[in-house]
Amino acid sequence: MIRPASGRCSARRSFPHHTRLVCSVSASPARVPASDRLAKPDTANDLVASVWPSSAHRDDDGVVRVAGVALTELKERFGTPLYVLDETEVRTRARRTRAAFETSAAEHGTTAEVYYAGKAFLSTEVVRWVTQEGLAVDVSTGGELAVALAGGADPARIGFHGNNKSIGEIARAVEAGVGSIVIDSDAEIARVADAAAARGIVQSVRVRVNSGVHAETHDFLATAHEDQKFGFPLGRAVDVVARIRELPSLRFDGLHCHIGSQIFGVAGFRESAARLVEVHAQLLAGGPVPVLNLGGGFGIAYTAADDPTPIEDLAAGIVDAVAGECAARGIPLPSLAFEPGRFIVGPAGVTLYEVGTVKPVQVTDELRRLYVSVDGGMSDNARPALYGAQYSARVVSRTSAAQSALARVVGKHCESGDIVVDAEYLPADVAPGDLLAVPATGAYCFSLASNYNYIPRPPVVAVADGSARVIVRGESVDDLLARDAGISSTEGTA
Ligand code: LLP
Repeated sequence: MIRPASGRCSARRSFPHHTRLVCSVSASPARVPASDRLAKPDTANDLVASVWPSSAHRDDDGVVRVAGVALTELKERFGTPLYVLDETEVRTRARRTRAAFETSAAEHGTTAEVYYAGKAFLSTEVVRWVTQEGLAVDVSTGGELAVALAGGADPARIGFHGNNKSIGEIARAVEAGVGSIVIDSDAEIARVADAAAARGIVQSVRVRVNSGVHAETHDFLATAHEDQKFGFPLGRAVDVVARIRELPSLRFDGLHCHIGSQIFGVAGFRESAARLVEVHAQLLAGGPVPVLNLGGGFGIAYTAADDPTPIEDLAAGIVDAVAGECAARGIPLPSLAFEPGRFIVGPAGVTLYEVGTVKPVQVTDELRRLYVSVDGGMSDNARPALYGAQYSARVVSRTSAAQSALARVVGKHCESGDIVVDAEYLPADVAPGDLLAVPATGAYCFSLASNYNYIPRPPVVAVADGSARVIVRGESVDDLLARDAGISSTEGTA
């Protein structure tokens, strides 16, 4: 999707409280010409390790298996399109992320809590996996909160953020005993305080601030720059926290910041940490500040061209930065919190499609592109249409000795922007009936799915140790018709 860069930062212009720093942690998501990032292979059978679940391999029969399950078998049992999630991959990545941050924190004599950001993919089963691996859960709506609770997450280890939580959502969170609510606006201070006071509870809250670091990812994925809807400017934090501290039903717990998503380098996180620690230190003058939550945003590989920083290096770099800033100010290092979503679940997902039509299109005299249409599209993966996200693909039901051909995998929706994989080399003999898989779809595909063109949303199947089970049921056309009040009322009056 987004190409990694060096991770350098450069000053752009001055703001009252800081210099805006543009961190070249990833390049623009504008479509990179295929010729720039794709080398034409002779054949297109290999699975690039960085974008597939580590259990994925092609067997002697040419069929790709994930967690020991043949993808052709999944197609027969569950149909296509189909979201496949490798349970062991999710668990391993959850454990690895937790270990990375806990180890780095322990080296500096503090602790780290890793919240799984449920917005990336949430179902009760995934809640069970990540909580069994010792993660807390981060939710951003009442719906996500309901799933986290239904999945058995300890309410005390749930964080609830969001820029426009309703009164009802806040009430449910307070009643459920949610461990921390992230205050995002002036209006929310009273809303959360009232909800807690009405129930005789003292609610722990964090305050979301914008560190002013513009992580150079897609504009819609960057969240801590100035001109957007989340949180408070850093310069307001002292006043906001003072107001919170005056309210007996609230207990201020620490600052919260999230600079953006799909970020490859450590520079933006380190700069953000430095700015946050400066304010964190000021807040200590007015009372305890036990926690600093630095959010999520750690990038993954979507294509062979992507080379994200290993999570262990990111963790060490961020924690070192916080520790260094605290030491420089002579203040104790707080407990740290992080909220990765994509990193944990993204590489564990693969989407299966059946190829329907194949159409060669002569784009220019030199460029001929195979348009490979599959039975899903922007309804099961909105990311290419929303962000220009790049993916890769493989035919997984067979190998092919045919030469590779430049292809564009497209969906079945009535939009020319309905692209699944913008550019990929596939076997030139790709044909109707082939099973095609797109890896790295575990994050923000299921959660962004729609019913555009009245296409039912696919089921999610978890694979582990050679077996498969549905963890989210798919929809049928009947499910979609059941929502149409016109049909029900016709039936009702018949
Ligand atoms: N914490 C907060 C406050 C967030 O807003 C987010 C993501 C996360 C944590 C988790 O970020 P992650 O580790 O997953 O990058 N739909 C977009 C991504 C939007 C992310 C929104 N916030 C996409 O498909 O790329």
